Amino acid sequence: MNTYAKITGLGGHVPSRAVDNATLSQWVDTSDQWIQTRTGIRQRHFAGETELAGTLALPAAKQAMAQAGIEGADLDMIVFATTTPDRVYPATACLLQAELNAAPCAAFDVQAVCSGFLYALGIGEAMVAAGRAKTVLIVGAEVFSSTLDWKDRATCVLFGDGAGAAILQADSSPGVMAVRLYADGRYADNLTVNARIRNGELQGDPYTRMDGGTVFRFAVEKMVESAQDVIAKSGSAPDWLVLHQANSRIIEAVRKRLKMSAERCVNCVADYANTSAASIPLALCASSSRFSAGDNVLMAAAGGGFTWGAVMVEWG
Ligand code: ACO
Repeated sequence: MNTYAKITGLGGHVPSRAVDNATLSQWVDTSDQWIQTRTGIRQRHFAGETELAGTLALPAAKQAMAQAGIEGADLDMIVFATTTPDRVYPATACLLQAELNAAPCAAFDVQAVCSGFLYALGIGEAMVAAGRAKTVLIVGAEVFSSTLDWKDRATCVLFGDGAGAAILQADSSPGVMAVRLYADGRYADNLTVNARIRNGELQGDPYTRMDGGTVFRFAVEKMVESAQDVIAKSGSAPDWLVLHQANSRIIEAVRKRLKMSAERCVNCVADYANTSAASIPLALCASSSRFSAGDNVLMAAAGGGFTWGAVMVEWG
């Protein structure tokens, strides 16, 4: 009998400080109209001085665990996707594990930028399917604002902070049905924070730099390709499309190529902007009440690396 990884709990959390486009326009030379037309974004949430990815992840993880009816001691593994970890080391997953009283479960971070949550989900699913874990906490959390250059209006208007979490549990009924993950490091420079700490000093450029046009074309092409891969692998047509929430124009282009209706395509870009690894779990939190048991939920993401991938889940 197959062992499936089933999503049994979801949680999401964004910082309390919401910043709308009009407010942003007072800081940088932009406008509500430009941002909405180009991206669909109306506002984003920014973390306060003391809020880190782990801080945002804690309430999201607790919410997902409460929904699944589990406690820290039940966890076999924590996979934490983030581009903006709390420390260089240890992993933010270990810091979260301590807060959740979940020792001695395995805990580690995954760095795949906007594809991070799907990478974490794919790793968790593989461990469950292999019988190495029964209960896994998957987290995507970012303080992406910490990488933004407020003098670069082409990037700073696009991102926000937030966290999302899911519990995966072993079950005899589906479950995650198909996973496909990819990367092509030859495109590393097209979306990057090219910096490191060396000999006690920051070396390089500490801000997000992006070639917007290349990223746009890549995101559409690769999300469509990987979505088609998991449709073929699972042998199921999707009932819902939950894409990485970067930009409404990217979401619309992918949706149309996959021939999905707008009603079945989740879009919460307006409220959160691009929260990188947190965007898919936040979108699941915003939409899962509309899913029925047995619905096929197709998730796809693309981001820095370049990384991309898709996951098909039979809901319920
Ligand atoms: N406000 C006002 N004007 C702006 C802004 C801004 N925030 N940013 C750029 N402009 C100006 C430019 O200076 C340019 O002016 P010019 O014509 O006088 O030179 C003009 O707007 C057009 O600039 P373009 O870069 O051609 O604008 P475009 O329509 O291509 O949109 C955008 C830019 C929104 C960044 C687009 O390329 C895009 O959506 N790319 C994808 C980026 C993305 O989502 N990245 C997220 C991370 S990756 C991921 O998650 C998949």
